[in-house]
Amino acid sequence: MEQLKAFQESNKERFLEELLELLKIPSVSADSSFKGDVLQTAEFIKQKLIAAGAENAEICPTDGYPVVYADKIIDPKLPTVCVYGHYDVQPADPLELWDSGPFDPVIKKTSIHPQGAIFARGACDDKGQMYMHVKAFESMMAENCLPCNVKFMIEGEEEVGSPSLGPFLKANADKFACDVILVSDTGIIDNNTPSVTSGLRGLSYVEVEVIGPNRDLHSGLYGGAVGNPINILAQMIASMHDENGHITIDGFYDDVLEVSTEERTAMNQAPFSLSDYKASIDIKDIHGEKGYTTLERASIRPTLDVNGIWGGYIGEGAKTVLPSKAYAKISMRLVPNQDSETITSLFQNHFEKIAPASVRVKVTPHHGGEPVLTPTDGIAYQAADKAYQATFGKKAIPQRSGGSIPIVAMFEEVLSVKTILMGFGLDSDAIHSPNEHFGLFNYFKGIETIPYFYQYFAELSTGK
Ligand code: BES
Ligand code: MN
Ligand code: MN
Repeated sequence: MEQLKAFQESNKERFLEELLELLKIPSVSADSSFKGDVLQTAEFIKQKLIAAGAENAEICPTDGYPVVYADKIIDPKLPTVCVYGHYDVQPADPLELWDSGPFDPVIKKTSIHPQGAIFARGACDDKGQMYMHVKAFESMMAENCLPCNVKFMIEGEEEVGSPSLGPFLKANADKFACDVILVSDTGIIDNNTPSVTSGLRGLSYVEVEVIGPNRDLHSGLYGGAVGNPINILAQMIASMHDENGHITIDGFYDDVLEVSTEERTAMNQAPFSLSDYKASIDIKDIHGEKGYTTLERASIRPTLDVNGIWGGYIGEGAKTVLPSKAYAKISMRLVPNQDSETITSLFQNHFEKIAPASVRVKVTPHHGGEPVLTPTDGIAYQAADKAYQATFGKKAIPQRSGGSIPIVAMFEEVLSVKTILMGFGLDSDAIHSPNEHFGLFNYFKGIETIPYFYQYFAELSTGK
């Protein structure tokens, strides 16, 4: 490990330069105008994996963007770690809110990152975190200390719900046979408090349309006498939470696995400051479901949120119009054991039921994903915990996250393999937002910590 550290120290600048190069390619999976860039990013990853010492590197076609595969099998009798990550990123919009170009990475110091942070779309989610694995692997290869087999599965559609990866995995289950899936696409509590993510929420995402009169109307001539789709949509949305913040869709909570009092007590002992939380996003007060703390509301409870709403006149000045249609994008975060298809159909029935006769409604489902719990015992968890201890000097705190990585549930379903979510980002890194960033401390700490995971996982698996 001493030699490994020396290698990483002397290659630090190059490790950073390469990540900056990767961040310059705008691999936005949601927007087809970036198709060439997304494909170029896959090629970049493949070349870097080969350079790091991986074999059988391949750009595997799928129905959508390709999966980058590579491996290094040192001994089939040894355990195999499969690293999952994604090379696609979220759209950078709104561009005007960035202090520097989203694909023009710059390093700046912040109060949370006094050693500097890389500002760019994908810096934390997930190019920076995925690339730590490539550099950790390179270090182990260079120092001849890779203790087990490794496979890489780096996809290009995570930010659009991984529609092609599930079918691809089903068709290629043998290729990805392994003992554990290792993912860095989540976070730690803060830079002194490592944490293993022990669960992710699922997702059910729909788009709704409320259809009123067959054309936009003069709001003086018709206003008050014809159902206004925007007014009605607003009422319908408002009615989906009661005064206690509970979701009013019949059956919505039926499958929710209640968390025991002991677990909730433990959960609320994690370091968390409500005043820092409020200050960090500049809000006066919090909001949410009665009977639950902020940490609980954002992890163990399901939600319903409007992600976008539009209709009518939004141009300059005023136009007196009674719009013909109104739209919204609505997502529900799900917890074990809710099922995304069941929830989507409950939503659809509910939305149709509460619509007044003065309008018609249409619900179009988008992508979904199932919630997961990942084990906090067993060899992989112990290996991650010991790895964090080795480099942070502290035990990891298991914490459920509110975010979603839909493919993780499929790893268990299709490959029958558990996942370990060993992230290095911070909630304050502004993923999906303008000025996304990733601390240099976090990037290098990740590269340093990952080889310990391999070492402990190999030791614990083989009993040596
Ligand atoms: N890496 C994130 C999810 C995440 C971030 C989990 C931080 C835990 C902590 C992932 O790239 C993501 O953004 N997922 C999407 C879902 C997807 C279907 C668009 C999400 O959670 O909204
Ligand atoms: Mn991600
Ligand atoms: Mn993301």
